[in-house]
Amino acid sequence: MKHALLAAASVSALLFSTAHADDITDQKVEDLLSQMTIEEKVGQLTQFNGFWDVTGPAPTGDDASESRFDFVKRGLVGSMLNVVGVEDVRTIQEYNVENSRLGIPAIFGYDVVHGHKTIFPIPLAEAASWDLDYIELSAEVAAREAAAQGLNWTFAPMVDISRDPRWGRVMEGAGEDPYLGSAIAVARVKGFQGDDLTAPDTIAATIKHFAGYGFAESGKDYNAADVGTVTLYNVILPPFRAAVEQANVRTVMNSFNTLNGVPATADAFLQRDILKGEWGFDGFVVSDWASGREMIDHGFAADRLQATELAIKGGSDMDMESYLYFDHLADLVEAGTVDMDMVDDAVRRVLRVKFDLGLFEDPYRYLDDAREGELLMAPAHLEAARKVAERSMVLLKNDNATLPLQKGETIALIGALAADKDAPIGNWRGQGEAGSAVSVVEGFDEAGLDYTYAEGAVVQTNQPTFAEEVVVNMDNRDGFEEAIAAARSADKVVIVLGEVALQSGEGRSRADISLPGVQQELLEAVHAANPNVVLVVMSGRPLILTWADENVPSILQAWHLGHESGHAITDVLTGKYNPSGKLPMTFPRSVGQIPVYYNHLNTGRPGPINEVFWSHYTDEENAPLYPFGHGLSYTEFSYGNLSVKPTAEGYNVTVQVTNTGKREGEEVVQLYLHDKFASIARPVRELKGFEKISLKPREKRKVTFTLTDKELGFYNAKGEYVVEPGAFDVYVGTSSDATLSASFELKD
Ligand code: BGC
Repeated sequence: MKHALLAAASVSALLFSTAHADDITDQKVEDLLSQMTIEEKVGQLTQFNGFWDVTGPAPTGDDASESRFDFVKRGLVGSMLNVVGVEDVRTIQEYNVENSRLGIPAIFGYDVVHGHKTIFPIPLAEAASWDLDYIELSAEVAAREAAAQGLNWTFAPMVDISRDPRWGRVMEGAGEDPYLGSAIAVARVKGFQGDDLTAPDTIAATIKHFAGYGFAESGKDYNAADVGTVTLYNVILPPFRAAVEQANVRTVMNSFNTLNGVPATADAFLQRDILKGEWGFDGFVVSDWASGREMIDHGFAADRLQATELAIKGGSDMDMESYLYFDHLADLVEAGTVDMDMVDDAVRRVLRVKFDLGLFEDPYRYLDDAREGELLMAPAHLEAARKVAERSMVLLKNDNATLPLQKGETIALIGALAADKDAPIGNWRGQGEAGSAVSVVEGFDEAGLDYTYAEGAVVQTNQPTFAEEVVVNMDNRDGFEEAIAAARSADKVVIVLGEVALQSGEGRSRADISLPGVQQELLEAVHAANPNVVLVVMSGRPLILTWADENVPSILQAWHLGHESGHAITDVLTGKYNPSGKLPMTFPRSVGQIPVYYNHLNTGRPGPINEVFWSHYTDEENAPLYPFGHGLSYTEFSYGNLSVKPTAEGYNVTVQVTNTGKREGEEVVQLYLHDKFASIARPVRELKGFEKISLKPREKRKVTFTLTDKELGFYNAKGEYVVEPGAFDVYVGTSSDATLSASFELKD
């Protein structure tokens, strides 16, 4: 990866030249701004969806689309989304460069979320790899392909922390933890933006959704979020801040939700005070799709005019698809309701990002037909997708060591998802083709495994489009008998169950997150015929797997792994790749436990005691099924010799990890911290360090983590970062349940 190859000397040279370039850019921005009319400024703050066939006939029929099209043709629209491909992008860029007075290039955005044409694992799956280099590589490949199609901006990564697996968009994030989420946010932004944003294979990234979208009440998409400042500062904001401060992310998208009663689009506290003020963010904020207009439905703006005023004053710079700025901003300036300075600040930000991308030097820099042909689905990209997919799986259980599969065994391969070439492509699929993933059946064929396939039951009874609901098969059990017969006559069963692509993602919240439809029944029927079962779960979220955990010897969480899904799953099942993933999100035992997450506060009555009066359920355990950080390997690791030593900056925590099993394997060594007494109650433990290492059998390795003020402190209710002296515990091990611990006292 490029960043790793940069020598220290060249990094400082780069910083110096960037600072210099910044002054020149600022000057160019000011020159341009001083020449712009209000109409031209509004154009820069407007983003339209590609609402017609760009190289085909012009839209006709309604006045609105005709006036929008006229605006685009005059080269005034600052940005388009969903216009993809060299030819289409060039057409619009030519309008901008040739038809407009100032020739300001447009910026082209698209949701490049987990791959562009070559599809990688869904982001939640990639997060399970805890492998920052591979996560960065995935974004780097996606950027290269997107840029080859004329794009210069992705609406990714989503860095929303979420504790609720009912929320369909957990598939798009990095899970429940702010420390892991911050590291991944930085890796993804670096992958998209690279070291040089003007290069033809890098694109501007967007961190989204600012803020609180992942805390939608009851896990229902677009719902209100109501969180206190302690959670806001310590849990929700850290990944955003890290991406701004450590990776210079160029854009931020706000969100659909209200946060404590204020729609994020109009939230000046978030966008002006924190993001642009305290953090010094100098890129621009784009609204989410029509989120400005939705403030009327929220009951926050009386009409479109007021929504426009609230959005611009709140710090939302570019309007995606609300047409608010397009229709009303100039009038508000004219009436004196909105200051021109405020508009100028927003325009300045948009222009700066366009300069950063090098679009003023060459507006056509991303437009090269040859590159478009060469780069999409290049063999090296597929190879990278396979490696990332292998690392993204989590072995949840392997009691009787049913896995890895052994040579000579006969296998019954069961489940519609085993043959499904579409589900692994996942929800946000960019330009990835429907039905183009390698299925598990194909993976088994290529590996030459001795298997019989039986579908068992279909998951969905329709083939929905992106805007349609999935209809789940609730009653067709016609394939059960064949599956049971196959199970009976095989040594082992590999059954692939879970969700199809469109059961997670935007608008795809679920109240019941068990295996959809008749799949649980199928699992039980097959298990009754042959208990030697390996359950492979494909899903966009943690599912309820409690029955499976009690009955099935081996469970592999395979998410939606992208194009190379079938190859990667086969590699893990056969032991060609030794699984190394760890859960980025807790798996509940039942829906009633949600939200269940590892870094919760203690209660005054933690229990357990023999009376009823402690914090518990009468009908469910407190502990989840699988904790955050959990994941097994085909080898075993032991932890010992934990020590904590003070240093000039803080503490060094050292642990010795040994591979005590018979195979080489990778382990994610995790460090958790507990601040025992503080001015506000602190979580029972919090991740503060991790390192992925590879060990040969019997090999030992010392791993050292450094705890400084950055790890030891927290934000108080006023949003101030404080480091308080007192007693701390550290836990080091293989998951958030780690028991190896030590204590230290932080002195004044
Ligand atoms: C989503 C955003 C996305 C945008 C553009 C919205 O519905 O919430 O995450 O970037 O659409 O496609």
